[in-house]
Amino acid sequence: MRGAQDFLDEGERLDVDALRALQLDRLRASLRHAYTHVPFYRESFDKAGVHPDDCRDLADLSRFPFTTKADLREHYPYGMFAVPRDRIRRIHASSGTTGRPTVVGYTENDLSLWADMVARSLRAAGGRPGDTVHVAYGYGLFTGGLGAHYGAERLGCTVIPASGGMTSRQVQLIQDLKPGVVMVTPSYMLTLLDEFERQGVDPRGTSLRVGVFGAEPWTEEMRREIEERCAIDAVDIYGLSEVIGPGVAQECVETKDGLHIWEDHFYPEVVDPITGEVLPEGEEGELVFTSLTKEAMPVIRYRTRDLTRLLPGTARVFRRMRKVTGRSDDMVILRGVNLFPTQIEEIVLRTPGVAPHFQLRLTREGRLDALTVRAEARPDAGPESREAAARAIAAAVKDGIGVSVAVEIVEPESLERSVGKIRRIVDLRPRR
Ligand code: DLL
Repeated sequence: MRGAQDFLDEGERLDVDALRALQLDRLRASLRHAYTHVPFYRESFDKAGVHPDDCRDLADLSRFPFTTKADLREHYPYGMFAVPRDRIRRIHASSGTTGRPTVVGYTENDLSLWADMVARSLRAAGGRPGDTVHVAYGYGLFTGGLGAHYGAERLGCTVIPASGGMTSRQVQLIQDLKPGVVMVTPSYMLTLLDEFERQGVDPRGTSLRVGVFGAEPWTEEMRREIEERCAIDAVDIYGLSEVIGPGVAQECVETKDGLHIWEDHFYPEVVDPITGEVLPEGEEGELVFTSLTKEAMPVIRYRTRDLTRLLPGTARVFRRMRKVTGRSDDMVILRGVNLFPTQIEEIVLRTPGVAPHFQLRLTREGRLDALTVRAEARPDAGPESREAAARAIAAAVKDGIGVSVAVEIVEPESLERSVGKIRRIVDLRPRR
């Protein structure tokens, strides 16, 4: 039954040639739409000396200029919209850790496309019409909650709009309402699992069968941890507000081999983050998206800052992206060595004696930056096992990443728990 052809929608049934032809048609239309209706794109194309008519081939896209988060901020709030305001049905905004948030808008057709893409994602994850879906992504300006919600309804599921927080009530709801699917950040899923155990309930015995986890980077080690603790299939969902929200790419449950990009609507490129040059399939770089069918806020070559690589399709005709290693903004450069929180996650989750909760503290000692990995001891870990864990983590970081870090094993339950997107890095360095 899994992945059976009769579950695929029209876009998923295209062959590669038909897909490329459709993409080119849509790309040309999207470039024209942006150029005609958004002064920013007209100026930036003119400045680069390109016109939508110059796009005769998918490869011609590389001649068009990039769009960055700074561009969106500069045109806050509505400057990037390509339709009159009375056609906008919904606004969302990205969290924006610094400065102004980024506002995004949707027409009725955009909302419908979004629901279709999340429905497609849920189906790829193993969800089916008639399933009950517990949505614990936050509702509000964040795209996670409402995005998941309308997608699950579109698929024909019953939605429990739990949103984030009130963890003990979430556990109660899951026990009473018996959802088959949960949609939540992986870090908040860990918080939920801890709460199940705190209440003396074995999470392996719940009705849950599938977890659709995203909105933050997570590793194969985290997948194993979650799958083992609650006996579900854990799959990855990716997206970003600027492109549409969740449902830009999704891992198929039958292969769990990276995320199929729904490239009949979101055209991916991977570029060298420094030179901007388009990289060949398989090489790691920064993911860039061009929307092919969005109305309210088309994006042309939007730089996500997410690092990954493109791979050929497997369970679907669409190309895949590897699980995201991290954002370029989350990369720590420690004495010349690049380090991502996901690399530490892999190590901490492999180490006996520690729980899957950790935090990275950045400090400055003299003129050098220093990193302390703070990992939580498991409740049953005695002093010897804690010391062994600290040594093992420090050695694995030194051997695997090539840099020395301090490791502190802290008391069980002492690190801040996630209720949404987790913040792994605590930067205590004095501001320059
Ligand atoms: O996080 C949309 C979303 C909601 C995706 C729910 C999946 C599930 P933003 O708040 O705009 O939108 O943040 C987008 O989050 O550029 C990535 O850095 C990160 N991100 C999202 N999904 C993943 C993932 C939503 N599966 C930013 N793996 C993106 C790694 C992810 N990082």
